[in-house]
Amino acid sequence: MSRINGKKKTTVRTFVRKKAKGKKITVLTAYDAFIASLLDNAGIDSILVGDSASNVIHGYDSTIPITMDIMIAHTAAVARGTKNALIIADMPFLSFQPSIETAVLNAGRFLKEGNAEAVKIEGGIEMVDTIRRVIECGIPVMGHIGLTPQSINRFGGPRIQGKAIDSQTYLKESALALEEAGCFSMVLELLEIETAKEITESLTTCATIGIGAGPHCDGQVLVTNDMLGLRPEGFKPKFLREYANLTPIINSAIEQYIKDVINSDFPGEDESYYKGG
Ligand code: KIV
Repeated sequence: MSRINGKKKTTVRTFVRKKAKGKKITVLTAYDAFIASLLDNAGIDSILVGDSASNVIHGYDSTIPITMDIMIAHTAAVARGTKNALIIADMPFLSFQPSIETAVLNAGRFLKEGNAEAVKIEGGIEMVDTIRRVIECGIPVMGHIGLTPQSINRFGGPRIQGKAIDSQTYLKESALALEEAGCFSMVLELLEIETAKEITESLTTCATIGIGAGPHCDGQVLVTNDMLGLRPEGFKPKFLREYANLTPIINSAIEQYIKDVINSDFPGEDESYYKGG
């Protein structure tokens, strides 16, 4: 295993090895170099450049509008801030659905232009031929089943998946098909806890990474802005644990700056740089 700065470089094989050993896999999202460097220095296994950038960074109310070019710019920035974590780029809406060729070309762009090491593709058994071909071309794929936000209009909202028998059957068959196609991991989003457990136990070479899918997954992912409390008022998914609440801290810093400038307290006359110090 290669090492950078004395730390282990995560590869797709790390996911598979950790699953086999029962060691949990840690994933968080990032969209810029600085946050990526904080996650990387803290020892996160993998950074997902999620299409949640559409909501979190660009202010849209879904992941549908974000484009390939914008996602590549975020991925390249994250790659510049990362040494050890595995960088996974999220393939945005309509970058892979139209045809297998479209999917291969766009997945390849993430590696060539964004320095990603893997891509994530939403969808179950219906996406398997596409995913298999992308993997055959040398591009590792993380699957994503359950609540797949690019299809939010079909789901009619963020509902727990895998409650009804037919939904459970679809999810379980999809998980096995994605593993068989060669996915090294898959996101299980908003999945009924027992279904997530059964899927995790049914897979051997594909690690499950849960978000709102309970504790039995092989690893967990959260949107970093959400777990840091950097989110719009009123938005708090039930599964979210907030590890910090940075919004009030930022608010008070900005308010203090505004006051200081208005009151001529900043910059002060005695700031040393005026004196060449
Ligand atoms: O876009 C994203 O951030 C994601 C995670 C929530 C899994 O897909």
